[in-house]
Amino acid sequence: MSENESGNAKKHILGVLCSGRGTNLQSIMAAVESGQIPATIAVVITDKPDAKALERAEKAGIPHICFDRKKYSDKESFERDIAAELHKYGVTLVVLAGFMRILSPYFVREFAGRIMNIHPSLLPSFGGAHAHRDVLAYGVKVSGCTIHFVDEGMDSGPIILQTVVPVEQDDDEDTLAARVLVEEHKLYPRAIELYCKGKLKVEGRHVKILD
Ligand code: GRF
Repeated sequence: MSENESGNAKKHILGVLCSGRGTNLQSIMAAVESGQIPATIAVVITDKPDAKALERAEKAGIPHICFDRKKYSDKESFERDIAAELHKYGVTLVVLAGFMRILSPYFVREFAGRIMNIHPSLLPSFGGAHAHRDVLAYGVKVSGCTIHFVDEGMDSGPIILQTVVPVEQDDDEDTLAARVLVEEHKLYPRAIELYCKGKLKVEGRHVKILD
């Protein structure tokens, strides 16, 4: 990020994309509010009109808009509208927080290296839409959450941070998801904080955290 005349790095501008309840959005809003993340959230975008994330943004006084995927005949025009909205606000980091759509190469290139995602497993294991179910079916003893940069594959971009969470013998999808979610709410703000402070250096698949 370039520097302004006073020598301070310019503040980052976040655009957060969600599909549902938005508890990760809430934790990011709290971290911006507390000053942990030196950025502003310019806009919250959803692909579903009933996403609770819209209410959360409304309550926080953050601009929010739904681009209802069902109203678009093709993915490209849907993504172009989202990209235009993000550009309108000068967004410098696109934060996927429970956005349940795979972005096309067009969108990923438009914001190359500036899209983050959270996934509720220890990638590269158990990518996809049913991580907790797949974790339980496989019988692994630990799971967790991953924050990564988004590339053109699914859940495949360079990993920024991960937290390990135990899988208990009597877990079901809900109990495991709840235990992982507690960690998601700490990990995502931390990754965004590091990015906004210029402390992440990407070298191929490796993301180095600078002192
Ligand atoms: C989280 O578990 C996230 O890891 C996954 O979708 C869920 C979204 O939850 N991608 P919320 O909408 O942030 O509450």
